Parts: sequence; structure tokens; C-alpha cells
Amino acid sequence: MRALVTGAAGFIGSTLVRRLTADARSVVGVDSFTPYYERATKEANLRRAESPLLTFVEGDLNEIDLTRLLDGVDVVFHLAGQPGVRSSWGGGFAEYTTANIGATQRLLEAAAGVADPPRLVYASSSSVYGDAESYPTREDALPQPRSPYGVTKLAGEHLVGLYAARHGLQTTALRFFTVYGPGQRPDMAFTRFLRAAVRDEPISLYGTGEQIRDFTFVDDIVDAVVRAASAPTAPGTVLNVSGGGSHSVNEVLDLIGDLTGSSLRIERHATAPGDVSRTAADIGAITRELGWAPRTSLRDGLAAQLAWVRESESAG
Ligand code: NAD
Ligand code: UGA
Repeated sequence: MRALVTGAAGFIGSTLVRRLTADARSVVGVDSFTPYYERATKEANLRRAESPLLTFVEGDLNEIDLTRLLDGVDVVFHLAGQPGVRSSWGGGFAEYTTANIGATQRLLEAAAGVADPPRLVYASSSSVYGDAESYPTREDALPQPRSPYGVTKLAGEHLVGLYAARHGLQTTALRFFTVYGPGQRPDMAFTRFLRAAVRDEPISLYGTGEQIRDFTFVDDIVDAVVRAASAPTAPGTVLNVSGGGSHSVNEVLDLIGDLTGSSLRIERHATAPGDVSRTAADIGAITRELGWAPRTSLRDGLAAQLAWVRESESAG
């Protein structure tokens, strides 16, 4: 049997592929190389995930024959999507609906239609909470996204729940909280901050820097994703996955100054539209259901990401 990883050339998808093939799993990876960021960066992600156990298919989930892709697949890790809170406003919204809602529905329909339906793990997002009702936020808090991106991730999550209820698909939606580590997307804060620090360029800070995130190291995310594929959870289960800490962006900048040994030049900008002031997850449910807990401290995770940034800078 095989695993299917959608979004296999992306940040989290390629890290998951590496983990699965290291565990001797046979993997089919699919990705359409959307132009959100450079194709060369995604190709480098794929090179780092190269393995005789990986079959890679370039294709768009909205176009390719999904029934064929699902042949012999026992678990689907659905990570393909159009990410990014800040760029989901304005004219580009159609990319969000097509990638996050349309492709998810098409994949669910195909999965429900095969003779022996696979399990499905869906990459949801802390952005479904918006400015949450309470902290630390439990999965039963009322979702109230503050960005168009969050609206589409919530719609995808609802579709996953619907197909679980209607077709008995064995699904789990994991709400990832701001993921970082080697391979992090070039639009995200840590990659931007670390790159600027290494190049001695100014760092763009949106807002006061007092906004708080429950940052999560990518290997911890991948560990939760892998556990979700085999745990005896009820179809339609939704779980938070987070680093378990509350850190302000200013704290992160101090840590980066410390790790790089450089004094950072900060350029201040207005708060980004859709940026929430705080995320913090209650991880009681995932600990009970999957026996999972985060293992990587912010300092260790940032040091690993800094090493990757330095390496990719010197490779050009
Ligand atoms: P990423 O952009 O690096 O990876 C997503 C990949 O999906 C890209 O390589 C893209 O080309 C591919 N893709 C998009 N639409 C596709 C389609 N229609 N067909 C085939 N491939 C397609 O993003 P990431 O940071 O690795 O995020 C992965 C998933 O996790 C996304 O669904 C995102 O919404 C979710 N998520 C990410 C974070 C985070 O902090 N990075 C947090 C919460 C949720
Ligand atoms: C991240 C991802 O980008 C989303 O795809 C994901 O769904 C979301 O996490 C989530 O948890 O659901 P975000 O929290 O905005 O979104 O992550 P970063 O891009 O790492 O930003 C963290 C903070 O740094 C934000 O407050 C942002 O405004 C700030 N930031 C970002 C800056 O101050 N400067 C920058 O150059 C980039």
C-alpha cells in the first residue's frame, strides 16, 4: 500500500515525504508548482526528499485523473493548498477558492468513490479561529476567520467533515499553528527575518511585534500528521497541532539577534490586514487522541532553520 501526499513539493509536504520514505513507506507525491513562490525553491524541496520510494507526479488536483492517482493508496495526506494570510485579500482570491476549496472537494469526491476508500488527513489552519473566543483555544471554539485565506481553509475543513459524515470517509483535520523550520516558505516571517539577518538587510516588522504566535516546528507537525493516519479516531475528528508556547514576534527577533550574533535593523510597517493578535492552542485533545506532544523548543527549531538559511544562501 502507498501514501499519497498532495503538495509534495511544498514546505510541509516535502518534509512529510522525507519522514514517510525514511519510515520505508512507499509514497506518491503530487504538486502543480503553483507560482506563489519560485519553482526552483520547490524543486530544491523535492531534491531533499528524493528517494527510490517516492514517485512524483506533476499535476493540478483540479485537472488530473484522481481515481487513477488513488489506485493502491491507503492514506491521503492532503497538504496542497494556497497558503498565506496577507496575500489572500484583493484580486488573487480565486486562487484561494480554487486551491483550498475546489481541489479539496474534487479529491474528497474521488476518495469517496473508490472501492476501498483511503483515510485522509487534511492540513487545516489556526487561521480558522481568527481572534479566538478564548485562550488557549479548544477545537470547539467558534471559528471566526479574519482573513479570506482562513475562510477557505475553514470551508475545506467543513467539506472534509461532510464527506466523513455522508460517505463514512475516515478523515482527520489537523489545525496547524504557524509552522517553521528548514524549508519554510519564503513569504513567512522566520525565513524573511533570518535571510535579512544573514544578509545584513533590514527586517520588515508588521505591527508592534507584540503579536503572539504558538509557533510549531515542522518535524513536530509531521509527527502529528503521521500519527493521525493510523490512530483510532472517529471520522471527522478535528485537532489542534501547535508548539505549545506563546511567543511574541519581538521575542523571536531577540532570539535571532542572539543566534546570529548580529544587531538587527528593524523597519516598521503597519499591521498586516488579517493578522491576528494572538494564537494559542489547547493541545489536550491531540495528546489524548494521538498520544502526541511537541518536542522542539523555539530556540532549537530556530537554530535548525538558521542553519538551513545559511546553507541555501551559500548554495546561491
Ligand atoms: P506550500 O505553499 O509550501 O505548499 C503547498 C503546495 O501545494 C505547493 O507546493 C503548491 O504548488 C501545491 N499546490 C497548491 N495547489 C495545488 C493543486 N491544485 N494541485 C496540486 N498542487 C497544488 O505551503 P505549506 O506552508 O507547506 O502549507 C501546506 C499546507 O498546510 C497548506 O494547505 C496550508 O494551508 C497548510 N497550513 C500551513 C501552515 C504554515 O504555517 N505553513 C499553517 C497552517 C496550515
Ligand atoms: C502562517 C502561515 O503563513 C499560514 O499559511 C498559516 O495558515 C498560518 O500560519 C496558521 O497558523 O494558520 P502567520 O501566522 O501570519 O501565518 O505566519 P508568519 O508569516 O510566520 O507571520 C508571523 C507574524 O510575523 C505575523 O504577525 C506577521 O504579520 C509577522 N511578519 C511576517 C512580520 O512582521 N514581517 C514579515 O516579513 C512577515
